[in-house]
Amino acid sequence: MSKKENTNKFKASWTYDKAPESTDHIQIKKQYELFIDGKFVKPVKGKYFDTTNPSNDKKIARVAEATKEDVNKAVKAARNAFKNWSTLDGKERGKYVFRIARLIQERAREFAVIESLDGGKPIRESRDIDIPLAANHFFYYAGWADKLEYAFPNKKPKPIGVAGQIIPWNFPLLMAAWKLAPALATGNTVVLKPAETTPLTALRLAEIIQQSGLPDGVVNIVTGAGETGASIVNHPDVDKIAFTGSTGVGKYIQKATAGTGKKLTLELGGKGANIIFEDAAIDQAVEGIINAIFFNQGHVCCAGSRLFVQESVADLVIRKLKHRIDTLIIGDPLDKNTDIGAINSKKQLQTIKNYITIGLNEGAEIYQPKCTLPKFGNWCAPTLFMNVSQSHRIVQEEIFGPVLAIQTFRTIDEVIEKANNTPYGLSAGVWTDKGSKIFYLTQKLNAGVVWANTFNKFDATSPFGGYKESGFGREGGLHGLYPYVKFD
Ligand code: NAI
Ligand code: MG
Repeated sequence: MSKKENTNKFKASWTYDKAPESTDHIQIKKQYELFIDGKFVKPVKGKYFDTTNPSNDKKIARVAEATKEDVNKAVKAARNAFKNWSTLDGKERGKYVFRIARLIQERAREFAVIESLDGGKPIRESRDIDIPLAANHFFYYAGWADKLEYAFPNKKPKPIGVAGQIIPWNFPLLMAAWKLAPALATGNTVVLKPAETTPLTALRLAEIIQQSGLPDGVVNIVTGAGETGASIVNHPDVDKIAFTGSTGVGKYIQKATAGTGKKLTLELGGKGANIIFEDAAIDQAVEGIINAIFFNQGHVCCAGSRLFVQESVADLVIRKLKHRIDTLIIGDPLDKNTDIGAINSKKQLQTIKNYITIGLNEGAEIYQPKCTLPKFGNWCAPTLFMNVSQSHRIVQEEIFGPVLAIQTFRTIDEVIEKANNTPYGLSAGVWTDKGSKIFYLTQKLNAGVVWANTFNKFDATSPFGGYKESGFGREGGLHGLYPYVKFD
């Protein structure tokens, strides 16, 4: 039997059985209201929008659309709550934050299923990464609440006031945790807006916040799309804006807040360089490349979407990479074996498809595995582009999908120059056996995070954020406290 026949036989006889996560225990309401001043309230104008399941196009629930009037109410509630919350003993504040962390942990399975239903990410990721990390952030910042004087020795940190927080759809609960936990620990009150395609876990979090006994108005959650977000940004009584999302909207927010005295942090797009040297452990590096670009369907601001392989091992790495993506399982996000779930929205799928067409028109060589994509919902096969150069749009622009642009290099100086040649500066990865090379590159690469012999690793204790068009400000770790305090 030839090698090829052997491989085909193996594939035919070793298919995976279905392993769906049960949804029996999940109760999703038909309609969700806004969470303002500790209560679920109807939107003033009575408008609602649908959130769907991107893996089958089915509607999951109707969600309230907050208008300016609702945002006004939310900001007012947050302002009223600020007086007591900001003067509460840090130890007491910490207890509430800790309680929220515990409640997320207790209901982790429920959160994971809802995250995958509403956003399309594989249950393996929401179960093992998103939800545990979200709890972890609350635990971590709960610990800081009564130790702020140690975080900022000889200074007197004070909370800023009302924080407006706008988050995206790629890590819905986790981004809510990144924003809420440090704000609460430092004594601020919050108006949070989840993304319009993935509001359900934030609304479940609102239920937990109610259960935790957190004083009314300390956290308010308003749902809606860009206009709702803009109402928060432009509200005169908001003291700070924290935004994660597209560079375009980030620029708009920066303009809108300029000169208003509002504090601002922006966590925007990226085009991370993943660099493989010839002395790297190649099989591990191939797994790292897969994780860097196909994790969460590539809907990751710090994705390793530009691969740089040293020329001497390029053929080997690309061959192994093609082989590996042939085995990725694409399909039902709730199946425990799924590697790549659904693309979050029709709009995002269209963006990705446009970029694939652009890549082909620019003359790049494409590789996609032969896989059957589900009939309904939004799907995109994992895609490799070879023979690309720095001037290709698929190398310069953020695609935010499972699409990898592969280039080769010969020398360290060459790869540093290529890696830094982008408007972004969020993440990078270096794969090599030599510690000295790692340290040299971490100094030279213009990126907020540089991973060595790993990729897409996150931890609550570790700061995250970017340079240039990837934004400014840090989230996570001690650094994540800064955006929420001021000093006299
Ligand atoms: P987006 O930036 O429009 O959405 C992010 C959040 O901002 C959502 O909650 C949205 O409702 C809100 N928003 C939209 N317009 C606003 C405005 N004028 N004022 C205040 N808030 C506003 O991102 P979109 O359109 O969903 O995705 C487009 C591209 O953005 C993606 O293809 C990707 O390249 C990038 N992106 C980057 C993310 C990151 O984590 N850095 C997350 C999401 C998208
Ligand atoms: Mg949805």
